[in-house]
This record gives sequence, structure tokens and C-alpha cells, in this order.
Amino acid sequence: MQLIATFINYCFNQLIIMNSTGTNSTLDKNIVQEIKNICGESNVVSDIEGLESYGSDQTEALFFLPQLAIKPRTAEEISRVMRICNENNIPVTPRGAGTGLSGGALPHLGGVLISTERMNTIINIDLKNLQVVTEPGVITEVLQNAVKEQGLFYPPDPSSRGSCFIGGNIAENSGGPKAVKYGVVKDYVLNLEVVLPTGEIIWTGSDVLKNSTGYNLTQLIVGSEGTLGIVTKIVLKLIPHPKYDLLMLAPFDDVQKAGEAVSAVFRAGYTPSAMELVEIDALKIVSRFVGSSIVPVDDAVAAHLIIEVDGNDLDVLMKDMEGISEVLSEFGSGELFFAEDAAQKAELWKLRRRVAEAVKLDGFTIEEDTVVPRYELPALINGVKKLGVQYGFKAVCYGHAGDGNLHIRIKKEGTSNSQEDPLIIESLRALFRLVKDLGGTISGEHGIGLVQKDFMDIVFSNKQIALMRGIKKVFDPNNILNAGKIFD
Ligand code: LAC
Ligand code: ZN
Repeated sequence: MQLIATFINYCFNQLIIMNSTGTNSTLDKNIVQEIKNICGESNVVSDIEGLESYGSDQTEALFFLPQLAIKPRTAEEISRVMRICNENNIPVTPRGAGTGLSGGALPHLGGVLISTERMNTIINIDLKNLQVVTEPGVITEVLQNAVKEQGLFYPPDPSSRGSCFIGGNIAENSGGPKAVKYGVVKDYVLNLEVVLPTGEIIWTGSDVLKNSTGYNLTQLIVGSEGTLGIVTKIVLKLIPHPKYDLLMLAPFDDVQKAGEAVSAVFRAGYTPSAMELVEIDALKIVSRFVGSSIVPVDDAVAAHLIIEVDGNDLDVLMKDMEGISEVLSEFGSGELFFAEDAAQKAELWKLRRRVAEAVKLDGFTIEEDTVVPRYELPALINGVKKLGVQYGFKAVCYGHAGDGNLHIRIKKEGTSNSQEDPLIIESLRALFRLVKDLGGTISGEHGIGLVQKDFMDIVFSNKQIALMRGIKKVFDPNNILNAGKIFD
């Protein structure tokens, strides 16, 4: 069935491309040849089998075939391809490693997919200025390890850091557990080389730590989900790597109480380098998935907080952990588990990082990325549970509690295509209205992409969306680059 659908999709795309400006255009043999001449024959994929690997990402079960996938090596190659696509109204979809959770890299209009997989060089680690210049196709963890060898730290660490690309992180303004102390991707990006949809190559700013010079084009590109340009070089700020970290796990028999403890820890004057929440169902599923028994099964436990502190003075960190433990006990935490060594820390982090993958396989296919002011976390968790009862879905919550960024995974028995289930859509609208009422918004770090765009009206007025559309038009007058993402 899947193959037939794939084939029909492919045939359709071969015949005609309808981009979201409504303009029709064909990707004819001459254009394909021109693109092959630019990128090299072996870096252009046009057979169905090859294209299939570019048809999906980590977003639910969506699948779209591009007509052509290319693997350019340089900004100049991308620039030349963009000019051709712009002149011929051919949709272009940029793609990093395909680990996204909102469908940003899905070629839902067919056309040309541009993969940055060959642009994978760390160009320079500048030890004098504590900066790194890199290409977008470098795996985030590879970059982190390379700068760590020099005693430096690039903190943003999405769960997929072992496979995601730094370019994709820029596109989505990714976060991760460390964001609670160190901030998200936007806090580290100093300057970007970008190929515009019209083919020009620009730098967005300067390699400086302060910049009040004109509009901030750098930050406009960060989080723009590949709709305004394709990032081809990245200059990031680095900081000295902290010498030590301590990690503990705190069980709670009431998830609300765990949520209340989170903001209390910060009010008491502590800033953990990670403050994560994992509900027990998610922990059980992921423990089975990775084959770990490090966390004992205790039926009384409803959720755990995973708390890390880091810094250069071990005594201070021990005292911080003591102080945090006292705060947690005021909210009824159970027996705390302290990771004894690097192996235990790694195992706990593995459990946390692989939750999304594990619960997805367990049928929790819909992923939400809600974020509220930290103090409102318990109200959000409570609201999710109530909506679950009202709409008949099961939800597991996990994520970056210290940021108020709660990932909610939803499963509804008996629904095959949940994206189109009217009740699910209604329940998501109710969830997002709650998030808005609590002072939050609908995505903290995964982006809007394809799967959240129908909910933008909940958090933005028509005027706000019109401003965004206006910006898109300035960058991309023919609406060829990642069209139909964020908004139609
Ligand atoms: C995580 C990803 C899903 O926090 O954002 O695991
Ligand atoms: Zn996350």
C-alpha cells in the first residue's frame, strides 16, 4: 500500500508542480541536467528508492517524495540551483538530518530537496575569540565534542544531538535540557552565511558579541524553519566548558507536586544546568526500549525530575544539590538517586534522550511542544490530563520542566490517521488555548512546520501573521523556499 501511494505521489510530482503561489511549473529534463552540471551527477538523486530516504523525518507518519534530491557541497552550488528554481517557480525544501518534529524538512510540494549532508566541515575553532565557524551539515554532538577537546562548550543539546545537524538546529532554534541554564541556539549564533531564495549569498551580521547595527537579520534567520534562506556557514559563540557536573533523579508520587517543585527550586536561588521531567509511563516505555533497569520500578511513583548542576567548584555543586534536595522534599519527593559515575550519568541521560523515540514506537505518535511560564507547569499538566479524559486520549508528559517546556505525547486508541481525526484536532485546539491562557505558546523548540500551522491563529492575530507573511515575501517573492511551512 505504502509503495503504491509512494508511486502515485512520484508520478504526480513528475507531471506537474503546483507551488503555493498557485503557479504551475515543470521540472523538465533540461533543468535536471543543469542541476546535475552544477552539483555533479553523483550528487543528484532522482530514483524513487533514493528519494524515499528524503521523504520523511521524525514527525508522526508523514511522507512526501521530492522530485529531485541534491547534495551540494558549497554555497555557490546552492546559489546557482536556487536561481534556476526561482526563475522556474520550482519548490525547494532544505533538509538537514531529518530529525525534525514539525515537518519542516518534508518536501510536501515535491520539487527539489536540498540536503546539507555533504557540507559537514568544522571550518575553524577560534581559540582567541572563543568562537567556531562551521558548515550546517555537521552533527551537533560532533561539534560539541570538537570544541570540548579545546576546553570549550557549545551548550544547546537537543535530544537528537547524536544525529541532528547544526544547520537544522539553527532553522528550528532548538533547545534541549541545557537551555534552562545556558539558553537555546539563538543565544549562541553570532553570524550566518545564507543563500537567499533568489540566489544571492549574504552574511547576516558580524562575528561580534554585541551588535546594534540595523535590523537583526541573524536572529530573523534563526528559527525561520528554512523559509527565508538556506544557512551555509555558521559562526557560534562558545564558552569555557564547566569542569564538573552532578546528576540526580527525584521520584514523586504526584506529577503536580513535581511540577510545583520545579519553580520552587529556582525561587530558592538555584539554577540547575538541567531540570527535566519524565512521567512514569514514559520512563517505563523507554527503560524497556533501551533495556535499562537503572531506575527501579515503583508503582507509587508518578513522575521523576532529573536534575543536573554544573560548574567549576565541586563543593559548591554538592551544596547546591543539598539545597535543591531540601526544596524537593518540601514537595514530597521520594528517595533521591544520585548518579555515582560517568556511566550512570550516561545511562540516565540515555533514558531521557530516547523518550520521544520510544513512546512514538509505543503508539504515542502525536508530539506537542508546549511551553508556559515555569510556574504554570502544574496547571498545564493538570489541564492535559483533564483534556485526555474529555477527549478520550492518553497522554504522557516529559521534557524541559525548568523551562516550562512540556512535551506531550498523545495516543488515541482506534485512530489510524490521527492528524486528520476531527476530535484530535479539536482536543489540540483546546490544549493550545489552555497554553495561551496560561501565558505560553505552542512550540518551545520544535517549530511550527507543517503540523502546527493550522493552530497559529490561537497565538497570533491576523496582523501578526500578516507581518510574518510580509517578511517572507521580501525574502522570497516567488514563494519557492519551503513554502507552506509555518503558514500557508
Ligand atoms: C526531547 C525532544 C523531543 O526533548 O525535544 O526529547
Ligand atoms: Zn525537547
